[in-house]
Amino acid sequence: MSAAPLPLSLLPMTASIGSTGELLIGGVSLLDLVAEYGTPLFVYDEEHLHARCSEAVNAWGSGVAYATKAFLCSEMARLAHGHGMCLDVSTGGEMFVALRAGVPAGSLIFHGNNKSPQELAEAVRCGVGRIVVDSFDEIVRLDELTREGPRQDVSIRVTPGIEAHTHEFVRTGQADSKFGFGLESGQAGDAVTAVVSCSGLNLVGIHCHIGSQIFSTGSFSRALEVMAPFFVPLGLEELCLGGGLGVAYVEGEEAPTITEWAEVVRASAAGAGIPGEVRITAEPGRAIVAQAAITLYTVGTVKEIPGIRTYVAVDGGMSDNPRPVLYGSGYEVFLPREAEAERPRVADLVGKHCESGDFIVKDASVPADIRVGDVLATPVSGAYGYSMASNYNKVGRPPVLFVADGQARLVVRREGYDDLVRLDA
Ligand code: LLP
Repeated sequence: MSAAPLPLSLLPMTASIGSTGELLIGGVSLLDLVAEYGTPLFVYDEEHLHARCSEAVNAWGSGVAYATKAFLCSEMARLAHGHGMCLDVSTGGEMFVALRAGVPAGSLIFHGNNKSPQELAEAVRCGVGRIVVDSFDEIVRLDELTREGPRQDVSIRVTPGIEAHTHEFVRTGQADSKFGFGLESGQAGDAVTAVVSCSGLNLVGIHCHIGSQIFSTGSFSRALEVMAPFFVPLGLEELCLGGGLGVAYVEGEEAPTITEWAEVVRASAAGAGIPGEVRITAEPGRAIVAQAAITLYTVGTVKEIPGIRTYVAVDGGMSDNPRPVLYGSGYEVFLPREAEAERPRVADLVGKHCESGDFIVKDASVPADIRVGDVLATPVSGAYGYSMASNYNKVGRPPVLFVADGQARLVVRREGYDDLVRLDA
């Protein structure tokens, strides 16, 4: 176990160290933010978000979509759309938030393996830019919905039969999948036939998504090679490779940049015989938002069990970040009061929920002087943390701040006790 300080490369891009060793993001001291907003608290570096969106648009072109499932609130929808990105929404709820934030329906790409008839009707009615068709049942529903009105642009989600090197729960490209139409089984071809026979549907492209948190650009090249022989004869204008680019969460991990990802995919596309005029696009989520945010907690107890283990318990846990419990995902831990401190002590960072499995980091390296009342931080927590947060044990979800140029603004407020009974009859 390394006692090394936190690798600063994991922090948001405007992170800096103040005169007393404390961490600032966007020119704002994290400890000052905690004094004002309390903990747990999600803090996003707005400049980092802008930089990643702009990189995505430069790398992939303006059709590139931000996968809102990674993190969505009204401000995030506006920020991504402001860069010319489309928004990938996969439920009526995500669609509603994006529309209400002012994103035009034409910039929405509607995903989902089991879109309800109502969601499909809403999508068609408001005129979403694209519906990514995922099942034969959906084709029947869409046919009925679009016979009368203007034609709806759709693409078809295909599962290329690729096993990406990532956690089983976030792998989606293999033949045995609830998503899309299989290539090998011939169902992808049948879906094309079914869609083109619907007078109200306009097939514009093919889509695939092989999984999430993928470090090897080679997996995407492989997907392209498998997709090309199916895609090219169709003569369609767009091929979307989905999201899935991995990010570094802990010391020693390295991930390709969005730019490198796009370059490798483009080179593979040319090699696989995909005509130059085809729009090759993607829909990154994690790579846009993960590293932009850190989560702040307060240490409530430090429990040393002699000869066994030390537990450091904080005021959040699996309700604001279920990823460690769901996927065994790793995070680093540091104290913003002294961000570059050595971390020689080993402790389990746990939450406040009523289960033993409620951990954030097992065997975490922490500073020797960690103590009750300390504000503690987990970096790279901007993706699938807030978006998968829950009210387990009737814990309110934390607020979300965007910080930039020495200012913080609240983009999602903290849930209070009243919010916890808002839906009760
Ligand atoms: N496009 C489609 C069709 C997707 O299903 C996903 C993610 C994305 C794009 C964005 O993938 P990203 O670039 O963020 O990897 N909760 C899990 C991740 C689940 C991803 C689901 N689909 C986690 O916390 O790791």
